[in-house]
Amino acid sequence: MKKEQLIKQYKAIYKKSPTHIIRAPGRVNLIGEHTDYNDGFVLPIAIDRYTNMLISQNDDRKVRLFDLKYREKEEFNLKNIEPSRQKKWSNYQRGIAKVLLDAGYKIGGMDVLIFSEVPEGAGLSSSASIEIATLLSFKELFGLDIKRLEVIELARKAENEFVGVQCGIMDQFTSLLSKENNALFIDCRSLEYQYVQLSIQGYSFVVCNSMVKRKLAESSYNQRIQECREAKKILQKYLSEITSLRDVAINDLEKYKSYFPEKLKKRVEHVVFENERVKQAVEVLKKGNLEAFGELMYQSHKSLKELYEVSIDELDLLVEIGMNEPGVLGARLTGAGFGGCVIYLVEDSSIEHLKEKILDVYWGKTGLIPQFYKVVPSRGVYM
Ligand code: GLA
Repeated sequence: MKKEQLIKQYKAIYKKSPTHIIRAPGRVNLIGEHTDYNDGFVLPIAIDRYTNMLISQNDDRKVRLFDLKYREKEEFNLKNIEPSRQKKWSNYQRGIAKVLLDAGYKIGGMDVLIFSEVPEGAGLSSSASIEIATLLSFKELFGLDIKRLEVIELARKAENEFVGVQCGIMDQFTSLLSKENNALFIDCRSLEYQYVQLSIQGYSFVVCNSMVKRKLAESSYNQRIQECREAKKILQKYLSEITSLRDVAINDLEKYKSYFPEKLKKRVEHVVFENERVKQAVEVLKKGNLEAFGELMYQSHKSLKELYEVSIDELDLLVEIGMNEPGVLGARLTGAGFGGCVIYLVEDSSIEHLKEKILDVYWGKTGLIPQFYKVVPSRGVYM
């Protein structure tokens, strides 16, 4: 929807004009899955789909929300912020307001119109885009002096504590700091980051939504985090200097793997080698070696399927179709898994053929009609 149309809608609902428009993108992770909460490495891009928030202040300490996609409204009072059971979608805004107030920031009421272009439940971080847009809305309207890393930490805290998902920092980081035509190489321990220019002329990243909806909070995501903690504890008995699975060297893994129950051994193995793959990915992308990058994508998927066990048949099928298609250099599930999307790196001239093939085979086998998004590495939040 065009900016002018959104402003028109805002005026119709609130009988005034918005003072700011904030746009925060969703993201897709190129490689480095389930490594962020293990203090490891990730390589995501922001995508050209944004959550738009049109905002202005009000005087009565209430946050009024209108979601244009669902044509639903909701409001809450800053004096007493509780999670909503009926309108769960408003818990992101509630959570952000709560963490800001708890951190001592002075905020007031605002009137908000939300229009998100980020598909929900697809693993493209619609939630992080809403969190970042909400946080930046308060920041702009009330002149909050918050450093960038604190924005990321607070947004993550809101999701951890208010929405109940123990996510890492990748999604909020990406929505805030991404740059056009670049991937973001993040060290999730030091929080240092580097832009990696993507020279992919003639190729594109295509995302295919399996249409199997992920329910992150209820899913096994939190369980995986728990398993990583357990594995870390076991290792710490032998290697006291280890503070997260990020610290486990390949040699250590070989040396100590017999001390783990089978399941935990597989989890550690995934994390250790996935971190290596991210570092290799940065190197090969810098050299423009897309074939090598594609190979790393396939390896990552295999590991997520066999070792981390977060894939499902539908995602495996989508990756397999890619493997057998000319012009496809790599494919893997992206995001938490258990549903959601697969990302392909594919030659532009082969995109249509790939889509047709997927529609045919995937629909035939699952009865689901997948959706496609050609994604462009885009800039982070802006006004
Ligand atoms: C979700 C979380 C991220 C990250 C991925 C898995 O998207 O929000 O923090 O852990 O899963 O890589």
